[in-house]
Amino acid sequence: MMKTEILTLLRESDDFISGQELCGRFGVSRTAVWKAIGRLKKEGYQIEAVQNRGYRLMNSPDAFSEAELVSRLHTEWAGKNLYYYEKTDSTNLRAKQLAEENAPHGTLVVADMQTAGRGRRGRGWESPAKTNVYFTILLRPEDISADVISILTLVMALSVSEAIDETAGTRTDIKWPNDIILHGKKVVGILSEMSAEPEYIHYVVTGVGINVGKQQFSEELVPKATSLEAELGHRVSRAALVEKAMERFEANYEKFRQSGNMGELKESYERRLVNTGREVRVLDLEHEFSGRAVGINDEGELLVRTEDGAVRAVYAGEVSVRGIYGYV
Ligand code: BTN
Repeated sequence: MMKTEILTLLRESDDFISGQELCGRFGVSRTAVWKAIGRLKKEGYQIEAVQNRGYRLMNSPDAFSEAELVSRLHTEWAGKNLYYYEKTDSTNLRAKQLAEENAPHGTLVVADMQTAGRGRRGRGWESPAKTNVYFTILLRPEDISADVISILTLVMALSVSEAIDETAGTRTDIKWPNDIILHGKKVVGILSEMSAEPEYIHYVVTGVGINVGKQQFSEELVPKATSLEAELGHRVSRAALVEKAMERFEANYEKFRQSGNMGELKESYERRLVNTGREVRVLDLEHEFSGRAVGINDEGELLVRTEDGAVRAVYAGEVSVRGIYGYV
């Protein structure tokens, strides 16, 4: 779309870009450029036009659109192939479908609204329009075992937590394995799904829901969930969140690739781990036990020291943390 390309060029340049240059670049007429500029203005972009100098981007609206996202993404592969939907059932479902159609590693699906947002453990994910971020990235890891899916989810949690802090000027924590917490409540949920045979992973899709704008949560969620804007009291750009999340994820994924585990990222992850030093209760499929969380290992498992001094590594399961979400 020429509108997207023009916006990208204007955004990259601090100075005016002449109409002639834009025409030459895209091989179109002045009228076509002028029309595309008109469409951008209509969407709220302030573009100054000065005779003999050309066009300059003065100000961007808080837009969440394909053009806005593409013009912001400067990553090598994460989000380079972008699909944007104003409304879709679930970005995880869309990403899986694209994967089956051979979409490349790093393909990103973003939606403004989901009609069938999926949460973990078969739950749903509230996905109203015009207020939050819903995205899913398609990953095709090479030569790695199936439990890599849980590590990729941790890599994403770390990346999104860093992205939020940078974009919104705050300090978020991670509740193991992959909830992001602000002021003691959940602001982000992550759901990874995969297609694999016992020895071979076809692909993994990692979906992220960020509660950004103020909203009415269902009664059941009120004590546990919140949004960035409700907590921080200022606006947070959704497009900037996606941009930063892709930037951080691409960098962190490369670190993960070097070792194939959390080794290189453990320290950064642990600095954000809200569980550390706290009493946690672990409920897995078979048993329930309590202890004090001490960190994670290279596999991304939560390390819990029980009363007898033994340290147990928790692979999966529900972990409740004292003081988080009001659990005791
Ligand atoms: C959780 O239960 O904590 C995980 C929630 C994951 C929600 C995101 S929103 C984008 C992506 N698409 C979905 O349908 N789910 C994930």
